[in-house]
Amino acid sequence: MTLARGQSVSLEHLSVKFGDFTAVHPTSLTVEDGEFFSILGPSGCGKTTILKTISGFLEPSGGRVLIGGKNMAGLRANRRPTAMIFQSLALFPLMNVRDNVAFGLEARGVGRAARLKRADELLELVALTGQGDKRPGELSGGQRQRVAIARALAVDPEVLLLDEPLSALDLKLRQHMRAELRSIQQKTGVTFIYITHDQGEALAMSDRMAVMNEGRIQQIATPREVYHQPQNAFVASFVGASNILPARVVQRDGPMAELTGPFGSLRARAGTGLEIGQDAYLFVRPEQILITDMGERAGRVENISMEGAQAQMTINDGAISWHAEIPGRSVLSVGHHVRFVVDAEHALALPRSELAASIDGDAA
Ligand SMILES: Nc1ncnc2c1ncn2[C@@H]1O[C@H](COP(=O)(O)OP(=O)(O)OP(=O)(O)O)[C@@H](O)[C@H]1O
Ligand SMILES: [Mg+2]
Repeated sequence: MTLARGQSVSLEHLSVKFGDFTAVHPTSLTVEDGEFFSILGPSGCGKTTILKTISGFLEPSGGRVLIGGKNMAGLRANRRPTAMIFQSLALFPLMNVRDNVAFGLEARGVGRAARLKRADELLELVALTGQGDKRPGELSGGQRQRVAIARALAVDPEVLLLDEPLSALDLKLRQHMRAELRSIQQKTGVTFIYITHDQGEALAMSDRMAVMNEGRIQQIATPREVYHQPQNAFVASFVGASNILPARVVQRDGPMAELTGPFGSLRARAGTGLEIGQDAYLFVRPEQILITDMGERAGRVENISMEGAQAQMTINDGAISWHAEIPGRSVLSVGHHVRFVVDAEHALALPRSELAASIDGDAA
């Protein structure tokens, strides 16, 4: 079976306004051909708006979209080498699965026999061999999701745009589909631009990701960089869990900084733009709090919630409630006194700026 190769997608100073409201401030980025690129951000930050300008359902107010180096200005959605999967899958309930997949080919003048052959090949690709005669209603949520993917791939897109395609599925199925989507992307080489507000999804699947807030891209990097080297306080608070502590920078030496705050004083990694005398936040991941009898800090266990392999715990040291992650087999319980160490050498200090207002999705 032949599939189109992926194409690169470039946004050049792309902006989108609705009346006076700017949904997307001038944005430039390039998604490489064959890349799995995610856009992560809270509700209303402009993710779907960007996807619609790439697919041609929406014209930008400024700047341009290039696909494979070609300017898309003025090209309608059906003339672009893209396919979009919407959150509501919009499968045709009365059509069988094979006809659903073949649907887009009819409009392109492909004969019936060739359409159905192609549909069966795509069903094989998404691991639904032999399910072609069923109706969508006779499939599980994850299977329907795969039909929608096969249908989008049927028209041979060079770029597949996916708008929160897994959000309706339960956790187990979502995790399973993450791996499936990734493997379909690798098999086809099609460029994927994947929108989600679930950080776990973006971190698990992407080659690179953009974190967005209020119409502006905050950082574009690999998942590892976004998690370990967030560019600013918004990204650090949105991606992954952290203890977020107000701090002041008293000293800088090379990559490290000395900080004071309600935690006393600590030495931590200095993030982008951190300067002496500045107000900052110290971001300490729960896994950077180590419970040990040798620890110089002491506190009382306030709360424990078992999550299986791990447990989440808060420890109050009189000044701060520290959020820590410990092995699920731990025998600690509420009221116990513990000693602990804050591994601030791996924690990060960033200039004080906007934090994510609400944090949803899976904790990473
Ligand atoms: N057609 C429109 N007219 C006016 N405002 C719009 C229109 N479409 C979107 N907006 C506004 O633009 C902003 C961005 O919307 P968008 O749909 O891109 O958000 P999103 O990041 O996809 O959010 P969600 O995660 O909730 O889907 C929102 O404030 C929204 O209200
Ligand atoms: Mg949206």
